[in-house]
Amino acid sequence: MTKHIGILTAGGDAPGLNAAIRGVGKAAQGHYGMKMIGFLDGFRGLVDNRFQRMDGDVLSGVLTRGGTMLGTSRDKPHRMLFGGKVQDMTDVIVENYHANHLDCLVCIGGGGTQKNAMKLVEKGLNVITLPKTIDNDVAKTDVTFGFDTALGIATDAIDRLHSTAHSHHRIIVVEIMGHRAGWLALGAGIAGGADVILIPEIPYDLEVVAEAIRQRSRNGKNFSIVAVAEGALPKETASVVKAYEEKKAHAATKKERKEAKAELARLAQDYANHTVLLSSQLEQLTGLESRVTILGHLQRGGTPSAADRLLATRLGTACADLIEKEVYGVMVAARGDEAVPVPLEEVAGHKKLVPPDHPWVISARRVGTCMGDQI
Ligand code: F6P
Repeated sequence: MTKHIGILTAGGDAPGLNAAIRGVGKAAQGHYGMKMIGFLDGFRGLVDNRFQRMDGDVLSGVLTRGGTMLGTSRDKPHRMLFGGKVQDMTDVIVENYHANHLDCLVCIGGGGTQKNAMKLVEKGLNVITLPKTIDNDVAKTDVTFGFDTALGIATDAIDRLHSTAHSHHRIIVVEIMGHRAGWLALGAGIAGGADVILIPEIPYDLEVVAEAIRQRSRNGKNFSIVAVAEGALPKETASVVKAYEEKKAHAATKKERKEAKAELARLAQDYANHTVLLSSQLEQLTGLESRVTILGHLQRGGTPSAADRLLATRLGTACADLIEKEVYGVMVAARGDEAVPVPLEEVAGHKKLVPPDHPWVISARRVGTCMGDQI
């Protein structure tokens, strides 16, 4: 019996998505003789039953392309804006899955997608996921595709910022993506030789950061590069956020939970421009001029690196092997040179954060980089 598979990409885009779609599609259709359709714009396309065929020449020439040929969205199956109100659309998804006679649905995405896919597994669908995100924060996989490309882009940016910071004797605060996880800021900060690296996992002390910069000035280096992750917070704010997160997690009533959520949203709003604030605070505390560079979506765009193409192809083809063996309800994880199936319940709802004693953090400290918590 010919197997029928559906595939979609969800969440923020990342370089390597097309390489992964191609890997799954070529192996599934070319090698195993399956049939594949691609749903458009993430879970939204599955609800609308909007899809395209993935045979013929569709998968040719896409390996090197950035973005996703299928489009993406951050829509969640169980909380989707539909017909003017937020609704649980999982039953419609189940209906469309069966209407298309699917044997398996492949969902490519980050942490949110793993959780959404798990909801569909609970509804009895055969689902396999692949881990992508530039944040590299998906649990149970060594690495996610998209990370290596973004790492290269952010490192190149730091390299370029060095010469201008040096020429003008300035501080340059460069904001790197990563709301919860600091892998990208840490990796690019180390590779680019940033003088200070601030990540969400290590709340920073403003005075410590300023002193590290002043110390450099006293040593004749009157410029500094501060690589800061989007989600890095000063230690005072981090402890308030932590308290509200705990309140939310252990709320006894719906009202208490709602209040904690609202408070967290307010704090997030207040800190939306924290990089700009940090830059002006450092200017005041050090007497040096400071500028801000926000790398933003540049880090997600453009052609994937060779390492991401290779990783996405390895995981994509392994995904087709698993479908052939009917191993479902798993994420295809990278473990060394292997691609291994990990039960989705071990991945969904878990984030891979930077442990404060991670070897990368230790290396950064050894080369004299200030991590914001100590000189
Ligand atoms: O999840 C990947 C990511 O790029 C994060 O690093 C960033 O915080 C977020 O997406 C930005 O999301 P959006 O593109 O929806 O603004």
